[in-house]
Amino acid sequence: MAQNVTDLFSTVPSGTILDATIGGGGHSYEILKSRNDLDVIGIDQDSEALIAAEAKLADFAARVTLCHGRFDDLADIVSGAGKQKISGVLFDLGVSSYQLDNSQRGFSFRNDGPLDMRMNKDSKITAQNLVNESTVEELAYLFQRYGDERYSKRIAHAIVAKRPVESTKLLAEIIRDAIPARSKRSPGHPARRSFQALRIAVNCELEILESSVHQAIDLLEIGGRGVVLSYHSGEDKIVKRLLRELAGLNNSNSKYHPEIKQTAKIRLLARKAERASNNESSKNPRSSSALLRKFEKVGEG
Ligand SMILES: C[S@@+](CC[C@H](N)C(=O)[O-])C[C@H]1O[C@@H](n2cnc3c(N)ncnc32)[C@H](O)[C@@H]1O
Repeated sequence: MAQNVTDLFSTVPSGTILDATIGGGGHSYEILKSRNDLDVIGIDQDSEALIAAEAKLADFAARVTLCHGRFDDLADIVSGAGKQKISGVLFDLGVSSYQLDNSQRGFSFRNDGPLDMRMNKDSKITAQNLVNESTVEELAYLFQRYGDERYSKRIAHAIVAKRPVESTKLLAEIIRDAIPARSKRSPGHPARRSFQALRIAVNCELEILESSVHQAIDLLEIGGRGVVLSYHSGEDKIVKRLLRELAGLNNSNSKYHPEIKQTAKIRLLARKAERASNNESSKNPRSSSALLRKFEKVGEG
């Protein structure tokens, strides 16, 4: 997937690539290495990620601007960095391996740690707040909506019966015990979907996605390109619908609404989402769920 991203930006006009989720800086490193007429503005809401990105990109420091913030502020961040337009944009959504592997951040059901899950340590709501202060109905909704969890109600009842729940290990055990034995035989940890749901809710991941991709497309210059890497169906559904709409492909998507005539702002560079090869998935298991959608700006709409 890293190679796909670098290839995508190989033909964009000289200028700025906005890495809206810079994480440890892996993608930006490859982009900066591939062309010396590109600079990068990197955003992350996790200040620890920015420290890692700064170290990773040290050789290119003169071409890198790093900003602590959420990507729904990207228009202000780009203009604050003195740029009017961008040549490319990358969203590599979700959680980084660094965040998952650090048990103190509370993202992982595999390691014991505090139930935190905030990407931005300045934000107020933690997973512990949601788990201990939500009603059964609110928890069940959250597990179903953000985790596609079939046993959302059983899990919600089990959690409420065992509160207070303050550690990832205890939460993972409660979820595992709440799921019927036959379903535990399916691949993956039984708590995987519920942990994902809590993380998405704590970090408001889905709410800001559409408006942020929209903002980024408005900032792209004609011929500029964008790529979104999603890791679960909820994210990909939002991205797919928005991109199709901006490409002028969703004009009559409802029989109850009149057709809206719209000039295309982008063209899709692939009809379907691309997936990692088997080879890449075996080397990097996280990439096996990645869905990559890419596009090029063709008009101002
Ligand atoms: C999958 S990682 C990115 C990895 C990166 N592409 C690399 O090569 O190292 C996602 C990063 O995006 C950040 N992130 C997620 N949602 C964000 C948001 N709404 N605003 C800013 N950063 C966000 C996370 O903190 C995390 O560091």
